[in-house]
Amino acid sequence: MSVLDIIRLRRSIREYLPREILPDVKEKLLESLRFAPSACNNQPWQFILIADPQRRKQVAAACNRQMWMADAPLIIAGCGMPHEAYQYMGGYGNSIEIDVAIAFDHLTLVAAEEGLGTCWIGAFDEKAVKKILDIPKDVRIIALTPVGYPAEKGALTKRLNKKRKDPLEIFPKELWHS
Ligand SMILES: Cc1cc2nc3c(=O)[nH]c(=O)nc-3n(C[C@H](O)[C@H](O)[C@H](O)COP(=O)(O)O)c2cc1C
Repeated sequence: MSVLDIIRLRRSIREYLPREILPDVKEKLLESLRFAPSACNNQPWQFILIADPQRRKQVAAACNRQMWMADAPLIIAGCGMPHEAYQYMGGYGNSIEIDVAIAFDHLTLVAAEEGLGTCWIGAFDEKAVKKILDIPKDVRIIALTPVGYPAEKGALTKRLNKKRKDPLEIFPKELWHS
């Protein structure tokens, strides 16, 4: 499958089997994070691997009680150190969200290639999740995702929920389209 095929078939998975992820598959997921680009190659991140069932439940509860997250055998928290990120992104700020988001997107695509589901989680109480994971004050949580095998058969090959904007709307030629 091409990268574009994977991009097209990936979709958010919100129902998981309790099936464990094999170590060599897990290794691929971690490599996809490790080899992501970051501004100045600063790699200002840690990706916390949460496998303990009790802790997964606590984290899911702190993510607006999206308890289905805890059914996946693994939750990954994408964390960034803003002070280690590039500070002049576009002249306006640091690159931390972009750096971690790129790595997370790598993860979602490699997971899909391996038949695993993911779901970006942006609805979370940062303070509460930081407490659960013992994350220092100056570190930001950018996003989380469960990682696991979809409970729904063929979930990753169905084209559900894929409506996207028309190309005419999002690819203006030369100048901003208003
Ligand atoms: C930054 C971000 C935050 C998101 N937060 C959540 C979330 O908290 N819970 C959830 O169920 N889905 C969340 N999503 C998933 C989106 O709803 C989903 O990606 C979008 O509807 C497109 O569907 P698809 O991923 O299946 O293509 C988030 C996605 C992104 C990119």
